[in-house]
Amino acid sequence: MHTLSNPQIRAQEILARCRKLAAYSEDACGTRRTFLSPPMRDCHREIAKWLKAAGAELTVDAAGNLRAFYAASQSAAPRLLLGSHIDTVPNAGAYDGVLGVLIAVALLEALETRRLPFAIEVVAFSEEEGVRFGKPFLGSRALVGKLDESLLDSRDANGISVRAAIENFGLNPSEIPRAVLGDDTLAYLEFHIEQGPVLESLGLPLGVVEAIVGQTRMEFVFAGRANHAGTTPMHLRHDAIAAAAEWIVAVERTARNLPGLVATVGQIEAKPGAVNVIAAEARLSLDLRHASDTIRKESAAGLARLAGDIAAARGLSLQHCVLLNQNAVAMDPFLAAQIEEAIRNSDCKPHRIVSGAGHDAMTLAEKIPVAMIFLRSPGGISHDPAESVELDDVAKALQCGLHLLDQLAASREFLMGREARKNA
Ligand code: GLV
Ligand code: MN
Ligand code: MN
Repeated sequence: MHTLSNPQIRAQEILARCRKLAAYSEDACGTRRTFLSPPMRDCHREIAKWLKAAGAELTVDAAGNLRAFYAASQSAAPRLLLGSHIDTVPNAGAYDGVLGVLIAVALLEALETRRLPFAIEVVAFSEEEGVRFGKPFLGSRALVGKLDESLLDSRDANGISVRAAIENFGLNPSEIPRAVLGDDTLAYLEFHIEQGPVLESLGLPLGVVEAIVGQTRMEFVFAGRANHAGTTPMHLRHDAIAAAAEWIVAVERTARNLPGLVATVGQIEAKPGAVNVIAAEARLSLDLRHASDTIRKESAAGLARLAGDIAAARGLSLQHCVLLNQNAVAMDPFLAAQIEEAIRNSDCKPHRIVSGAGHDAMTLAEKIPVAMIFLRSPGGISHDPAESVELDDVAKALQCGLHLLDQLAASREFLMGREARKNA
């Protein structure tokens, strides 16, 4: 087994790199880095520098994913994917996504040019959060052939399409099919902060993800009538913001009353948006998650009916559409068991956990076995600048990653691939 001589120093470097990348932002204050925005190019430049020095060959695919190939001990060997995403939410922390990419970089560095019976491809996905276009996983969808024409036509708040964003970054959308994973891909592994309080409450640094909950993202538009705020009596109004507010409170109540359901209205935009004008239109987002796909789908339908009832009772009209309907995804059992063993080999106690956050692994699971390792999130805080991670936990994650690579390198079962494993 290969052990790390200086895990703390390497962990310190990973954290310093995360903080360095957090400074590449679209906003002067705080970190915001959406799909193929200019600061993503800065991240590519920095990450590429570290990966090249570790002995990898770099490309950027037509979906803007940075991809680094670290060759195996023999040519024509299969490959293992390691990675995470480098886009962020607005006012983000420094670790969601980026930490997973930089742990993958550090694992290549820790191999110190040692070659394994499989190649390693490190991927820094260009889009996971769905902030710019409302639809997540654009980067990983390209790897499974699902970045299709309708997605490429989606537009951001400035009317720029995904296709145009790709061209503006100097890439060619017609080359997207070349980003698709080859049949030589054995699996995808991702390190990520937990983004919740479970591991901290158990006093454990690392967790094994068992499944990722499903999620629905919808858009609702209440349309009423604009009118004068001073002259229109209360009972003669068709106020889109008031309708939206009634519905938002009902969404919260519904989720509070249904165990395991989480529902969030995170965006609201009203028109015309003046202090003395009754709102004619309110546009809202809904993010809905539950471990059971049936409960999630029933809840989405129920909340849409409720919005319709509220609109009708107030003499408004309602339009809604589904932006994402992603079923829950189970992680690969073989890999999850290997991760448990690697966590034990790193002197930690493994704990199985269900992820409430979405991850690129959900998309990639359509094509290849996927698995994830979570690092404890202090305070359970994420999607906020206060997001953090413990130095010691990063050191443990690195050790766990190296054990995992060694275990997989020694595993005939892993090298034969999932289908052969099933038939063996
Ligand atoms: C990604 O962070 C998500 O779960 O929304
Ligand atoms: Mn996130
Ligand atoms: Mn993430």
